[in-house]
Amino acid sequence: MNVLSDSILSITIWIVLAIHLEIECKEKCYYIDLLYSNWTDDRPRFIVNMTFSSQNGIASVTTINDPVISPVASLLIVQQSPNEKKRIVYNMTTKLCAIKGIIDAVPLFKPVKENMLRQSNYTFSCPLNKGVYVMNNMRINPKNPLLSLLYQAKGIFTVTGALLEELPNSEMHPLSTYNFAGKILKKGCGRLD
Ligand SMILES: *[C@@H]1O[C@H](CO)[C@@H](O)[C@H](O)[C@H]1NC(C)=O
Ligand SMILES: *[C@@H]1O[C@H](CO)[C@@H](O)[C@H](O)[C@H]1NC(C)=O
Ligand SMILES: *[C@@H]1O[C@H](CO)[C@@H](O)[C@H](O)[C@H]1NC(C)=O
Ligand SMILES: *[C@@H]1O[C@H](CO)[C@@H](O)[C@H](O)[C@H]1NC(C)=O
Repeated sequence: MNVLSDSILSITIWIVLAIHLEIECKEKCYYIDLLYSNWTDDRPRFIVNMTFSSQNGIASVTTINDPVISPVASLLIVQQSPNEKKRIVYNMTTKLCAIKGIIDAVPLFKPVKENMLRQSNYTFSCPLNKGVYVMNNMRINPKNPLLSLLYQAKGIFTVTGALLEELPNSEMHPLSTYNFAGKILKKGCGRLD
C-alpha cells in the first residue's frame, strides 16, 4: 500500500473513531425516580398488585374474577416544573379494544407497548376475560425517547390512569385507578448507580 492511501486510511479511521466517541459521550440515559405510587382496585372482582424496582422496573399481577364486557382505559401524563404552568403531555380515554391502534399511532408509545406485551400476558382485547394476568419485571429502556421527553431538570411528572367498565347505562365504574409521580434522572449510559 502506498504512503498516501495509508495515511488517508488512518485519518479516516481517526475521524470515524472521534465521531463515535463524541456520540458515546453525548449519549444519555434516563431513569425514573419514583416519588410515590398508589392504586385502587375493585376487590374481589378485579384485584391488582404492582411492585416497582430500581432501574425502571415494574411488575404487576392482575386477577380478574368476572369478565369485563366493555373496558375503558384512561391515561393522563402531566409535567410540572417549579413556577411553571402544568403541561399536559398526554390525555386520553378510550375503549381498551381500540387502544392498540392508538398506541401504535404514537411512535413514542409503541416500543413501551411492545416491550410490555413481550414481558406479560396482558391483552388489549374486549371483553377482558377471567384469569390471572402477569407482567414480570418490565424495564423501560433508559434510552426510550419517552423518558427524555418527560425529563426536566427540576420538574416532576405525574401519571394518572384508570381501567373503567362502561355500564349499560353508560356510567363508568372504576375497576382500577393508579397514580404515580416521579422525576426523570439523566445519567450517562452504562452507569448503574
Ligand atoms: C394517591 O396519591 C395521590 C397524590 O398524593 C392522592 O391525590 C390520591 O388521593 C391517592 N390515592 C389513593 C387511593 O390513596
Ligand atoms: C404484592 O406483591 C408483592 C411482591 O410479590 C408481595 O410481597 C405483596 O404481598 C403483594 N401485595 C398484595 C396486597 O397482594
Ligand atoms: C382530558 O381530556 C378529557 C376529555 O377530552 C377532558 O374532559 C379533561 O378535562 C382533560 N383533562 C385535563 C387535565 O385537561
Ligand atoms: C398468565 O401467566 C401466568 C403466569 O405465567 C399464568 O398463571 C396465567 O394463567 C396466564 N394468564 C392467562 C390469561 O393466560
